Amino acid sequence: MNCLIIDKVYAGIAEELGKSMNVKTAANLPSTKEQLLAEIADVDVLIMRVDPKIDKEILDAAKNLKVIGVCSVGLNHIDMEYAKEKGIQIFNAPGLNANAVAELTISKMLDISRGTMTANYDVKVKHEWDKYKFVGRELRGKTLGVMGFGRIGRRVGELGRAFGMNIVAYDPYLKPEDFEKENAVGMGVEELLKVSDFVSIHVPLTDETKNLFNAKSLEGMKDDAVVLNMSRGGIVNEKDMYEALKAGKIGGYATDVMENELAGSGLTGNDTFASPLFECDNFIVSPHIGAQSVDASKDIGLHIISKVKEAMGL
Ligand SMILES: NC(=O)c1ccc[n+]([C@@H]2O[C@H](COP(=O)([O-])OP(=O)(O)OC[C@H]3O[C@@H](n4cnc5c(N)ncnc54)[C@H](O)[C@@H]3O)[C@@H](O)[C@H]2O)c1
Repeated sequence: MNCLIIDKVYAGIAEELGKSMNVKTAANLPSTKEQLLAEIADVDVLIMRVDPKIDKEILDAAKNLKVIGVCSVGLNHIDMEYAKEKGIQIFNAPGLNANAVAELTISKMLDISRGTMTANYDVKVKHEWDKYKFVGRELRGKTLGVMGFGRIGRRVGELGRAFGMNIVAYDPYLKPEDFEKENAVGMGVEELLKVSDFVSIHVPLTDETKNLFNAKSLEGMKDDAVVLNMSRGGIVNEKDMYEALKAGKIGGYATDVMENELAGSGLTGNDTFASPLFECDNFIVSPHIGAQSVDASKDIGLHIISKVKEAMGL
């Protein structure tokens, strides 16, 4: 039995599955489509994250494939219908990175409220030591509006409560009791934008949510409110956000994702990556690291190991 690993995943997967099958880790992580096509013919178990796309051509070339273990949440990179037709079982790890993303959200909420990114830059790069430049705001007593009250949104709410924040949430797909049992107040989007000091976005990117957060949303908010986006680029309209930041119509924007983060060969290609938002001190960003914690990687890895073993009767 052969297993091929084509992305950077929890090291325990190779170790554990290696006890009952030949495990090979591809030379290039993540593998390109061409590299995968060259290796897939005799593979029984494929371990991957979200690259490359698993289309009909790859599935046809995978003559022995029985299981795909996806060490991630999304499955929209796989032709699920065709895989099902071919009897290939697919496992992912829903929810297992929710805490990692939620903690990054809180980290950014604290950083942007206290100006720690600019302060760090001032000291280390500009060699300035000016404590009077940084008068921040605390989270305690503030209202946190969560848009999209799913696994990540609910955990953000839970962590926000630990800081003494009031939690309000907007999610048209939930029932009133879903908010109540999380000690949050469910409300419409306009009201949420009006009352919140922080708005944290945790919806999936769909036709309905593209540009969901735009000039109109910003208009209804407090001038010192902060927007956080740990979901997907394209949900927040960056041009509208830039204009609001420049005009002082919003307190700050903290994000882990950007509209054109996958343009060209993506960030891993070391392409030049720029945005007008980079001019703004009250804009902070990280390169889509929300799920990147050793803890999430291990939890996901252990889940995938158990699913693969069960499916392969090991
Ligand atoms: N930054 C990262 O590295 C990272 C990692 C994991 C997930 N994510 C993103 O976070 C998103 C949320 O993840 P999750 O695990 O909480 O998903 P989830 O499915 O548990 O929750 C999403 C919630 O959004 C709600 N929703 C859908 N459309 C909506 C709309 N138009 N308005 C308001 N709410 C809406 C759904 O009802 C659901 O409750 C993912 O779709 C993904 O894009 C980012």
